[in-house]
Amino acid sequence: MRTDTGQIVHLADYRPTDFVLERVDLTFDLHPTETKVEARLIFHRREGTDPKAPLVLDGDDLSLSGLLLDQVDVPAGQFEATAESLTVRDLPESTPFELTITTIINPEANTQLMGLYRSGGIYCTQCEAEGFRRITYFPDRPDVLAPYTVNIIADKAANPLLLSNGNFLGGAGYGEGKHFAAWFDPHPKPSYLFALVAGDLGVVEDTFVTMSDREVALKIYVEHGKEPRAAYAMDALKRSMKWDEERFGREYDLDIFMIVAVSDFNMGAMENKGLNVFNDKYVLADPEIATDADYANIEAIIAHEYFHNWTGNRITCRDWFQLCLKEGLTVYRDHEFSADQRSRPVKRIAEVRHLKSEQFPEDSGPLAHPVRPTKYREINNFYTTTVYEKGSEVTRMIATLLGRDLFKKGMDLYFDRHDGQAVTIEDFIKCFEDASGRDLTQFSLWYHQAGTPLVTASGTYDAAAKTFALSLEQMVPATPGQATKEPMHIPLRTALFAADGALLTPTSVTDAELTDDVLHLTARTQTAVFHGIPSRPVLSLNRSFSTPINLQLSQSAKDLALIARYETDHFARWQALIDLGLPNLLQAARDARQGNPITCDAAFVDALLAAANDESLEPAFRAQALALPSEADIARELGGNNDPDAIHAGRQAILALVAEAGRSVFAALYDNMQTSDPFSPDAASAGRRALRNAALTYLSQSDNAPARAKAAFDAANNMTDLSAALTILAHRFPESAEAKAALQGFHDRFAENALVIDKWLAIQAAIPGAATLERIQGLMETPLFKRTNPNRMRALVGTFAFANPTGFGRADGAGYRFLAEQILDIDQRNPQLAARILTSMRSWRLLELVRADHARSALMQIERAGSLSTDVRDIVDRILK
Ligand code: ARG
Ligand code: ZN
Repeated sequence: MRTDTGQIVHLADYRPTDFVLERVDLTFDLHPTETKVEARLIFHRREGTDPKAPLVLDGDDLSLSGLLLDQVDVPAGQFEATAESLTVRDLPESTPFELTITTIINPEANTQLMGLYRSGGIYCTQCEAEGFRRITYFPDRPDVLAPYTVNIIADKAANPLLLSNGNFLGGAGYGEGKHFAAWFDPHPKPSYLFALVAGDLGVVEDTFVTMSDREVALKIYVEHGKEPRAAYAMDALKRSMKWDEERFGREYDLDIFMIVAVSDFNMGAMENKGLNVFNDKYVLADPEIATDADYANIEAIIAHEYFHNWTGNRITCRDWFQLCLKEGLTVYRDHEFSADQRSRPVKRIAEVRHLKSEQFPEDSGPLAHPVRPTKYREINNFYTTTVYEKGSEVTRMIATLLGRDLFKKGMDLYFDRHDGQAVTIEDFIKCFEDASGRDLTQFSLWYHQAGTPLVTASGTYDAAAKTFALSLEQMVPATPGQATKEPMHIPLRTALFAADGALLTPTSVTDAELTDDVLHLTARTQTAVFHGIPSRPVLSLNRSFSTPINLQLSQSAKDLALIARYETDHFARWQALIDLGLPNLLQAARDARQGNPITCDAAFVDALLAAANDESLEPAFRAQALALPSEADIARELGGNNDPDAIHAGRQAILALVAEAGRSVFAALYDNMQTSDPFSPDAASAGRRALRNAALTYLSQSDNAPARAKAAFDAANNMTDLSAALTILAHRFPESAEAKAALQGFHDRFAENALVIDKWLAIQAAIPGAATLERIQGLMETPLFKRTNPNRMRALVGTFAFANPTGFGRADGAGYRFLAEQILDIDQRNPQLAARILTSMRSWRLLELVRADHARSALMQIERAGSLSTDVRDIVDRILK
């Protein structure tokens, strides 16, 4: 484990390397515990640099076992090797030279899952961000690009498959039961995109013919016997390749594209050139084991990694501060892909729910950082929802500001101008400025200023003048290291509606730019005047969530109901329903805390049930409308001194009131929203299942006994329905014999399937209430609990900490203490995973005093521990600050 050195990396310190890397030639002699890596690197000195400068290469936990310069042993006095670096002096001043570095590494002992590791008999790599330096000494930074040749030697029986990036060159026997394979990747790439996989896996094969008629071999490798479960991923891959050609003009550039699914993986997936490595959770699916959400995730992540081939691989990041250059842009691209493949408004609703529940808390708490940060202590802690999701929103805003055609022109320019380079956010923005002629200086603040802007809006109608004046004020809150902020360029999609629901088009707008429906807020305060408005309008602001802000706008229930009914933008309809419901949930939490009776506005209930019943709306949209804001959302909106038990009790009471009022609506939906047999994972069918299960959730809220949920569990013929019914049984009737039997039955039926057992664990980890901690501790004693498997840890410990406010936040603080122990334990093996789960504590200051105190003590317990990884040290320090 790399322990903390307290060192901070600053963007301002960036400078190019002294040496240019021309070529990389790697030979791996694979062995579970003693893999020999020989790296032949050809360098020359960069022009204009100090001709005496030594070459300094990165390492992590390495030991050098051989060093040659132009094939000759380097004398002891000419180099210095530590676990963290290799320094070589007296190198040629003007001619290229070849350095041959030999290291011996132990893949079996690599529990961090960074670099080369072996799990379940499969060798695999993860090099982003700084894993390659755990394989060999190297200039391990994204601005060092070179073509790679990779030779892999391994025992043939155990490893019939030997894969690396690029195109296959050839292979043959190697004696002593070994064989070898050689790969060549002609596209210069940084080390973080290197990959190697070896082992014995099954394969699903297909082909794709590109827009210029080249045939590409497609291969997805999975555990033997699981091949049929890769069919959906293959289909998603082909659709992604087609879409990127049609929408962005991007064609694939090698003869072969491979995906390997592995079960021990720290993240979702990795875009290594030509050889993506995936968490098998995001590859394997069939109706028996995968929910509709799983199918949607697989589609999105397959697309995401594939899209990286251009946005990330062909054009990469100059340094890790530029991470959003590839991640924000690629998330935007995968969002657009999913919107085109499924329902655009429903996709947008899901994105905004996710953004608000994950990124908004990050942006308003101790871990807040700009989309393009300027310093870090551990880069792995910056693979955040701010870099990814807010980064995507910022890209979306560029598209909104420029319009579809100019955005396309800017993207084309970006691909033309920077292909083969490692670039910065400034380079990216410049392409859109050059393509559009628009100055994006103020807009760029979105990359540099952390914090979710608060926009306060109010409108006044002047009947005599027929004008509607919209006053806007923006405030960007202070965040760590950024006390004061400049006003931002905020693009607000805006519409006005008449009392009958008709769209009102102004004759002109003064004191603000309006292009199509985009109103540009650029000053701290600004009043836009809409002219030619015949009657008092109802305002719909931030349609489609055109900008990621908190909006303060007080609107009557009547106006919100009108938007919920007539807005042509369905996202805005959904938002209006949320805005109608939220005050009820906030009040319910306050009332529950005071012991007051809980009530709910009829206007909200009526609007919600009307939407649920409206057959002109897609079922998936109606299901989204019925899903009330989560307890975490309510806590965030309450803003402080929060009691998770009161929030839970209040929300449950509102659910019960809606359930009661909507009994007949829900009963009818439950009966009518059946889906066809055989199962189809398409978006429309998924929407029907979502609506039916939402109805079941409300019906069960009114039920006093689990009979209906049990019947649903027994009747389910797919994982979506089965896990929905199991969740209701376990969460609503946890002590019932039916719930216990269902949990046992589910366990027994899927005992052999790790991904399904993860669901089983996650459902239990999320059971509300103080008793869940003991349940989790019990589950950790069983043989199914595998501490080394990240998916399993996330399913049990992660779900508990992130998604169970009453269980994790129980009043005696035992949940927080449990987390502290787990973090310290996980950190010994897998710092990245430990740091990620620890971010679940980021909002601890919003808790009421007693809980906040318990949370602080637990964090201090981590803080005081002797040897923490840099990853955990960085997070705990920032959270406590
Ligand atoms: N680039 C990968 C992706 O977006 C994720 C890599 C995450 N790496 C990390 N160190 N957390 O798909
Ligand atoms: Zn990515």
